Parts: sequence; C-alpha cells; structure tokens
Amino acid sequence: MGKFQVIDHPLIQHKLTIIRDKNCGTKEFREVVNEIAMLMAYEVSRDMPLEDVVIETPMGKSTQKKLSGKKVAIVPILRAGIGMVDGMLSLIPAAKVGHIGMYRDHDTLEPVEYFVKLPSDISTRQLFVVDPMLATGGSAILAVDALKRRGGNNIKFVCLVAAPEGIKALQEAHPDVDIYTAGLDDHLNEDGYIVPGLGDAGDRLFGTK
Ligand code: PRP
Ligand code: URA
Repeated sequence: MGKFQVIDHPLIQHKLTIIRDKNCGTKEFREVVNEIAMLMAYEVSRDMPLEDVVIETPMGKSTQKKLSGKKVAIVPILRAGIGMVDGMLSLIPAAKVGHIGMYRDHDTLEPVEYFVKLPSDISTRQLFVVDPMLATGGSAILAVDALKRRGGNNIKFVCLVAAPEGIKALQEAHPDVDIYTAGLDDHLNEDGYIVPGLGDAGDRLFGTK
C-alpha cells in the first residue's frame, strides 16, 4: 500500500484555515492555494534521491550533493488543479506540466475525462498529480488510470483537502500511489462535497458559480 500522509506543518495548517473560510475571496483564495502548494512541494519532495558530485568552490575541490534520479512532471487535474501548479513550480521550476481535464457530473458524481495533454516522456518522470480536492476519489482514480495507460509508473497524488472515502477508494484502485493532503476531513455530504471542506474549489479559484 502506498503512503498516506497529512502534511501538518503549522504554516500549511494556518493557510488551509484561511481558504476554508467562506469569506475568503477569489484573489486571496488563489494566492493562498499557491502558497500551500509551494509548501506541499517542499514536503512531498523529501524523498528525492541525491547523488555525490565533485564541484570546485572558491576554496578548492569539494564533494557535494545534487538531485539525481527521475525528473519531475506536475499534472494538474483541470480545472482546480491549475491553482496548485505555480506554487509547485516555484520550488521545482524545471518540472514539465501535463494536463488532465476531468469534471464531475454533478448528478452521478462520476468523473468525465475531456482532455489529456502530457509530456512525451512521462514513463521516465516522477509524476505529481495535483488537485485541491479528493472527495469520492473518482477524478483522482481516473486521472491515475489515464497516466498509467500512457506509461506513467511513478505517481504521487497531492491534494489540499481529502475525505476518508476518497482516500480509501484511491488506495484500493491504485495501491502504488502515495497520497499527501494538507487536511483530512470528516465525511462527504449527500452531494459529494467534503465536510467541512472548503466548498467548490474550482469555483472559488476562478470566481465562477
Ligand atoms: C472537483 C475537484 C476534483 C473533484 C473531486 O472538480 O477539483 O477534481 O471535484 O471530486 P471526486 O473526488 O468526487 O472526483 P470538479 O469536478 O468540480 O471540476 P472543476 O475543477 O472543473 O471545477
Ligand atoms: N469538489 C470540490 O470542489 N469540493 C468538494 O468538496 C468536493 C469535490
């Protein structure tokens, strides 16, 4: 089974409270989502492998560390995942970005795939799938399916708020995928919204409704 981790850094927890507040407007919501995503990038990259490299400092030769291993691609699930991309890129600026378009049918709660555009070399990359919300898990599962069908094999899922139902579903469907969240919430309501959650992440990010 993949790792499941709540990233409980105080800055992340503080910022998550800001965006949960219904009075947080679009501008602040967008800014703080990016800030949290940047902090999450720091935490989810902790196990990136390092290798020794010999460099020359002004004082002479020295063996130091640099990142080795797989290069990264960030894969937001449209739309709301887009809100996390800039924050992640601010710490991992050389990452490529793939997009997976997915919306949840509001009646059936089933996700529908409508767009996939990925770097050609995803099979060689560490993939971070990003979406603020893991609710039923349907969108995340379909997104990981889409990546695996195209050769993706090293996948971590990064969200801001997760429901226990979504975590269980994603773990069962894709036990190889590590899941990181800033908040582990209580339950889903009858409309499939996370409670207490933060409402509709896409609408709040983009000012739609
Ligand atoms: C939201 C959210 C996730 C999905 C989570 O997207 O951003 O992608 O719902 O729900 P699930 O775990 O039950 O699948 P939504 O379908 O509202 O689309 P949007 O991002 O375009 O607003
Ligand atoms: N998608 C959202 O944007 N919010 C939820 O609470 C559940 C799914």
